[in-house]
Amino acid sequence: MARSKVVLAYSGGLDTSVAIPWLREEKGLEVVTVTVDVGQPVDLEKVRAKALASGAVGAYVADARHQFAEEFLRPAVRANALYEGRYPLSTALARPLIARHLVDVARREGAGAVAHGCTGKGNDQVRFELSTQSLAPELEVLAPAREWAMNRDQEIAYAAAHGIPVEATRRSPYSTDENLWGRSVECGILEDPAIEPPEEVYAWTRAPLQAPERPAYVTVQFEEGVPVALDGERRPFHELISRLNEVAGAHGVGRIDHLESRVVGIKSREVYECPAATVLLEAHRGLEALVLPRDVLAFKHTVEQRYSELVYDGLWFGPLRACLEAFVAATQERVSGEVSVKLFRGLATVAGRRSPASLYRAGLATYSEGDRFRREMAEGFIYVWGLPSRTWASLEDPPERAPLPSSAPRR
Ligand code: ARG
Repeated sequence: MARSKVVLAYSGGLDTSVAIPWLREEKGLEVVTVTVDVGQPVDLEKVRAKALASGAVGAYVADARHQFAEEFLRPAVRANALYEGRYPLSTALARPLIARHLVDVARREGAGAVAHGCTGKGNDQVRFELSTQSLAPELEVLAPAREWAMNRDQEIAYAAAHGIPVEATRRSPYSTDENLWGRSVECGILEDPAIEPPEEVYAWTRAPLQAPERPAYVTVQFEEGVPVALDGERRPFHELISRLNEVAGAHGVGRIDHLESRVVGIKSREVYECPAATVLLEAHRGLEALVLPRDVLAFKHTVEQRYSELVYDGLWFGPLRACLEAFVAATQERVSGEVSVKLFRGLATVAGRRSPASLYRAGLATYSEGDRFRREMAEGFIYVWGLPSRTWASLEDPPERAPLPSSAPRR
């Protein structure tokens, strides 16, 4: 009888390569791997060959950059998604997409389980497993790296003993993850939150002091909250993001040093490089400030925080995201226009904005010729608006009140 199958999320790195023989030997399963290109530097054909050489019975690869940008990064931009106000959620947004690919392959292959290479201390295990549970509650989820008790040297020995090619790359003290929306760096010296990240942790961004002495300007065109063109040139969203990562990274834009609250309760020091995300979110917020009324902006801000938390927490496929996105979509109908962003030595600042739906009225705002604001109305407005303040302030000391008969405690 054929062994039952497990579908493994496979990066091609040491952990997930070791997981292939481990799942076969310890769990008696045939392993099918899935590798999803979300914009990390990956040679899909090499990864496929390595999976098969490591003992997988099948190896799927998918270029999902377009899908990632359209289905995950678009809504993230419209929602100005930033976890704890700082992290553009690059890794968090990619996990549900990878989980969806795992589930699709599991169904095609008739597998009873999926597996991932996450440890037991991070957010990613939560995201993979919650996503899988939402999409396919019948599937079991295995987490080999959470179960085995191997350290890195033992993993290398295990790999060698199982004929897995271990690249002779210099071992980095850092743990990184990359996709279109950003690069994350953890471990090594970064584990001391009192110490500034050394220059060597950065790979996408130039040190601001090494960046060009002259600023560069990029113009982002939005349609209903979605970036559609860069400097007047329409491009598919994932290409626009890649291009902007290069341009903004060269100006040192997008470095984020964050002391982050993980969903599993741990505080951790995370360094990110997110040049395109930084520029696009800044530009998008700049455009919204021009076209959305004050109350919508303020209410949307609370929705954005909640949205960012649920994405971080692994609840992408839950009902609340759909509800919040419906609200966000309604706010974006007029968020079309152009924003020019200045890139200069680590900073991305909105330099100009324009929209057919602009709420800016020169005749109301100006202090010069052509002022049409009716100042005489301000006095009456302030009289009414200030009534509660005056009433409150008219009581000098906290009022002494006789207790109301009905409020006396009953025994
Ligand atoms: N702290 C970030 C997050 O939870 C980045 C995680 C990076 N993941 C990784 N496997 N290196 O989204």
